[in-house]
Amino acid sequence: MSNSLVILTGAGISAESGLPTFRDANGLWEGQRFEDVASPQGFAADPTRVHRFYNQRRAALATVHPNAAHLALARLEESWEGEFLLVTQNVDDLHERAGSRRMLHLHGELLKARCTACGIGGLRWTTDLGTDSTCPDCQETGSLRPEIVWFGEMPHHLDAIFERLASADCFLSIGTSGVVYPAAGFVSVARAAGARTWEVNLTDSEVSDAFQEQRIGPASEVVPALVAAWLLKTPS
Ligand code: APR
Repeated sequence: MSNSLVILTGAGISAESGLPTFRDANGLWEGQRFEDVASPQGFAADPTRVHRFYNQRRAALATVHPNAAHLALARLEESWEGEFLLVTQNVDDLHERAGSRRMLHLHGELLKARCTACGIGGLRWTTDLGTDSTCPDCQETGSLRPEIVWFGEMPHHLDAIFERLASADCFLSIGTSGVVYPAAGFVSVARAAGARTWEVNLTDSEVSDAFQEQRIGPASEVVPALVAAWLLKTPS
């Protein structure tokens, strides 16, 4: 296998751990408008509703565990000889708990909070967050929000990600519908750089045509098999 690998994951890699995706049946966007709970306007209009949405998802993290796909990616990172970067759209901590280290959260993290008064970010927050929460730095009450990238906000770490995509030899996308940019466009950037591109999903995504290789099936089965083949340097 080539030496500079970039991996992108989406909600599909965490589905078999028991966390809902967004756009599948019974997904998070079923029955509610993402604008109401995942936008600055929604937060301004009803912060309690938005805090409740993320408090429920944050609490769920204590009930789920990394699955075989998360663990396989951590093994791949451990043994990979070249440059390695895992970019996740997910805000759960399952990649970290599986052992992944060289990774970036494109859309923020459920277990982090940010203060809109003093601007401090990266506050580790594992319990409920609310309008009665106090910033540990500036002591303001009601100024804390989840450190999640909402619709209309700038995703994190884009410069570092695009720099790595521009020199990628291999791009692997796992469990994303390919409907939200800039992540959905990463495959085209990698391909333009000459990377071999792979997609793992249960079904076609919106950007499947951009991939040279596709493996259809559940991530917890397909990803360990792919990682085993790559580490053995056998055709996969
Ligand atoms: N194995 C592999 N793929 C799966 C599995 C599975 N077990 N289960 C579901 N999938 C796939 C679905 O087929 C779908 O293509 O995962 C994808 C989930 O798509 P979405 O729910 O749209 O999630 P995602 O692509 O991560 O959404 C991107 O949209 O709402 C925003 O910020 C949010 O980060 C999120 C972004």
